[in-house]
Amino acid sequence: MKLNGIKITWLGHATFRIETPQGKTLLIDPWVTGNPKCPEQEKNISKVDVILCTHGHGDHIGDAVEIGKKHNPVVVGMPELCGWLEGKGVKRVSGMNKGGTQTVGDIKVTMVHAEHSSGIEDGSQMIYGGQAAGYVVEFSNGVKIYHAGDTCVFGDMAIICDIYAPEICMLPIGDHYTMGPREAAYACKLLKPKTVIPMHYGTFPVLTGRPADLRKLVPDVEVREMKPGETIS
Ligand code: NI
Ligand code: MN
Repeated sequence: MKLNGIKITWLGHATFRIETPQGKTLLIDPWVTGNPKCPEQEKNISKVDVILCTHGHGDHIGDAVEIGKKHNPVVVGMPELCGWLEGKGVKRVSGMNKGGTQTVGDIKVTMVHAEHSSGIEDGSQMIYGGQAAGYVVEFSNGVKIYHAGDTCVFGDMAIICDIYAPEICMLPIGDHYTMGPREAAYACKLLKPKTVIPMHYGTFPVLTGRPADLRKLVPDVEVREMKPGETIS
């Protein structure tokens, strides 16, 4: 995989920190304090410029409010989700919807479809968080990364391939709440990625899918298994 100055760090589950070619820090689906796979030394986020939230579930936005208030990044998500975050004191939200692209700092962010639910747990209430989404991020060096969020496989992943052609795809493979390896292999047929970074597996016992299972099904795709805390550049 060619990253040309981008650094990707997996913080476990669906949480990634990405350093852009211009030195900005992007956090996708911030969930660190309660994340059993996030290394201790990574739980105290020291710097973040942009946060992308795929949907309202706690294992994706668990630390969005605290990090958003502490570091004042631009926080991108569905309008309903952004409205909730704003109500909790996050200042710089930038709501968007599927099919749209916005420039945030030195990256272009496109919100794309996902098939999943998106309730926000707020005390004893469950609040509507808008639809679940994924993101295609285009960096200033031309590299494009697709983070699928939580989703099943869906036929319109072919549209994501046709329009954006992301060479690196972060796909959930854990099964139970999202795709498992069988469905992720079909997603590879639609997305035609060079590299897949598996995510959303192994965090809890029910998330049984493993990178090796996917690798067997897609011999022509680089399945890049990361260790939590590992950085690739
Ligand atoms: Ni979810
Ligand atoms: Mn999830």
